[in-house]
Amino acid sequence: MAILTGKARLAGILGWPVAHSRSPRLHGLWLQRHGIDGAYVPLPVAPGAFPEAVRGLMAAGFQGANVTIPHKEAAFALCDEVAPTARRMGAVNTLVFREGRILGSNTDGFGFLENIRQQVPGWQASAGTAVLLGAGGSARAIAVALLEAGAPEVVLVNRTRARAETLAREIGGPVTVATAPPLARAALLVNTTSLGMQGQPPLEVDLAALPASAVVADIVYVPLETPLLAAARARGLRAVGGLGMLLHQARPGFRHWFGVDPVVDAELEAFVGGDIPRS
Ligand SMILES: NC(=O)c1ccc[n+]([C@@H]2O[C@H](COP(=O)([O-])OP(=O)(O)OC[C@H]3O[C@@H](n4cnc5c(N)ncnc54)[C@H](OP(=O)(O)O)[C@@H]3O)[C@@H](O)[C@H]2O)c1
Repeated sequence: MAILTGKARLAGILGWPVAHSRSPRLHGLWLQRHGIDGAYVPLPVAPGAFPEAVRGLMAAGFQGANVTIPHKEAAFALCDEVAPTARRMGAVNTLVFREGRILGSNTDGFGFLENIRQQVPGWQASAGTAVLLGAGGSARAIAVALLEAGAPEVVLVNRTRARAETLAREIGGPVTVATAPPLARAALLVNTTSLGMQGQPPLEVDLAALPASAVVADIVYVPLETPLLAAARARGLRAVGGLGMLLHQARPGFRHWFGVDPVVDAELEAFVGGDIPRS
């Protein structure tokens, strides 16, 4: 841990609870690597206290903060300015304080795309149809990011079909809803549900119909190798795990607050995810 001076830059993560968050560890390694006079701390804030806490951080000279469950929508409402992508996602996960104003953005979709780009060199969202399992907050961020990166079509498949229909309507563009995943025409299959997570039921989907060129991504990262990823690899498909999304989504905030664009590499992955079961 670097010794802080009176000029230390400060940021942190607002959530409730926040004790489980890996973000302080993640930003802490980057701060150490770059010898930055700064700190990134957990900020447990109960829902009713969120606006007061954010204004307090700004008044105390913080550079900004990340926002996690349950505050992402409240953060959206509190911002003086929201980036267009975050507006379409309906949620904000990164706050930057500038000249007494609160600027909000959402880096979840960026993290998802950058993770695939790093793990599958040459991958392009424009390659074909993306099929998303789930219609929650992360499905929304990922669908918007894929469309903005040039995906020609996004298909949502969700247990509660009505929720997927509402989401498709709200996002707009070439987003459709299906009852079963149209695997034969999928260039990308993404699990955005909590199925396959440790303690949850497995995700039951037969990958046989996917084209050999398809990429399979799971945003669940506990365990690191979910049954979906294992099944994809067994079929010879390229498979991308969820931990990298968490690591890459942190980059834009770190750059804004501390002035360095940090790198996601194997050392960081082992440092942040070393205690997560492999399968
Ligand atoms: N890698 C990362 O950086 C990252 C980032 C964010 C989230 N995540 C992970 O992504 C997952 C989803 O997060 P979220 O914020 O999008 O959650 P959310 O808004 O609560 O949405 C959950 C989704 O999972 C579906 N689901 C839950 N249980 C199910 C079941 N038993 N059978 C079928 N579908 C089920 C829900 O379907 P219904 O609409 O039918 O309820 C919904 O579509 C979580 O596991 C979270 O840990 C990872």
